[in-house]
Amino acid sequence: MPRILRDKRIVVGVTGGIAAYKVPELVRRLLQGGAVVDVVMTPAATDFVGPLTFQALTRRPVQVSTVGVWQGEQAGHVTLGALADLMVVAPATADALAKLAHGIADDAVTLTALACPAPLIVAPAMDHHMYRHPATQANLELLRSRGVTIVGPHHGSLASGMIGEGRMAEPDELLGAVRQVLGRDGPLRRRRVVVTAGPTREPIDPVRFLSNYSSGKMGYALAEVARDRGATTMLVSGPTCLSAPYGVQRIEVETAAEMARAVQEMTASADVLVMCAAVADFRPRSPASEKIKKREASLVLELEPTEDILASIHRPGLVKVGFAAETERLLEHAREKLERKGLDLLVLNDARRTMGADTAQVFLLRPGKPPEVLPELPKDEVAERIWDAIQLLLEAGTGTGIG
Ligand code: CTP
Repeated sequence: MPRILRDKRIVVGVTGGIAAYKVPELVRRLLQGGAVVDVVMTPAATDFVGPLTFQALTRRPVQVSTVGVWQGEQAGHVTLGALADLMVVAPATADALAKLAHGIADDAVTLTALACPAPLIVAPAMDHHMYRHPATQANLELLRSRGVTIVGPHHGSLASGMIGEGRMAEPDELLGAVRQVLGRDGPLRRRRVVVTAGPTREPIDPVRFLSNYSSGKMGYALAEVARDRGATTMLVSGPTCLSAPYGVQRIEVETAAEMARAVQEMTASADVLVMCAAVADFRPRSPASEKIKKREASLVLELEPTEDILASIHRPGLVKVGFAAETERLLEHAREKLERKGLDLLVLNDARRTMGADTAQVFLLRPGKPPEVLPELPKDEVAERIWDAIQLLLEAGTGTGIG
């Protein structure tokens, strides 16, 4: 799990909407990341999810009442608010938003929010007419102008049976928002980074392509960690099954040529390029404009090389990070790539063990230094280690960007 959640104190306020059923999953994910989570609920919320569910997950008392909860010398809501690194209200009903906007504090959630100086995230969830109502929109505007982060709602099926805007953001997206808000003043703030991820697809004909086994997981984890550390993050992604990480600008591409164009454009103002994508080295020279028919006993495809994106980026000051997925003579091939592509850092892995897996065992290579061997780790922890190394390069003013 990402480091950003570790030991953070997060208060989750649950108000009375059907989307409350998604919140135990958010709490579970926060706990998995090492956060200390306290849940406060309105009485209406307890009609949808029992306090015992949250108590069992967090192993901490759940506050529903505005009176009578004292922790040591202090009132519970004041202590929770004062200690929190962040508060999330999910789901936030129209009523809860109105109270939050106007400083009304007549239930455990709004009372705790008013006593909480930490950043606030709200996840509105309601019927689409309630959401569109000028009163709700004005309340949201007021909250936004005060620096509250509003996540969702989205278009989809609603409790009323209608389809419209008002569906609460999923736990995954809320988790992304929590990570971004916690990390916005992190060590990479004011840095612009470009990460590439996934495979490319090179068309053979309108229904077939050449590609590889890359899942995109490593690149997406790298983009998320950059965001967690406060960077303005752009993710140039080939086709994957992964959804766009919250707070990351994703540019979707298919071919190596499209990726090359996007990377050239995005790196013009970037501090770091992390080229994690498994770019196809060859593409069919003349893709057929119609589907190739099975008339012949065999088919010969003529391939031509694609542009080497990493080697073609030359920009002084840009820290260039490459990946090498090798299957033999790992270090020898990697050293050669580090030099040939003019890299500041190269992440080497054994392609057969890493592609598509959830863990990776990598070596970090820098010019003129012995390789650093990392143990086998989950890909998000590998991403943290890679950014630790990149941060050191940024601090040292490295980044010739000359290939
Ligand atoms: N890369 C790139 N453009 C390409 C091919 C690769 O920018 N057309 C980048 C990859 O994203 C990676 C690094 O170059 O960061 C090394 O990729 P790899 O496929 O291991 O190296 P190649 O240069 O393709 O060498 P080889 O196929 O001979 O191993």
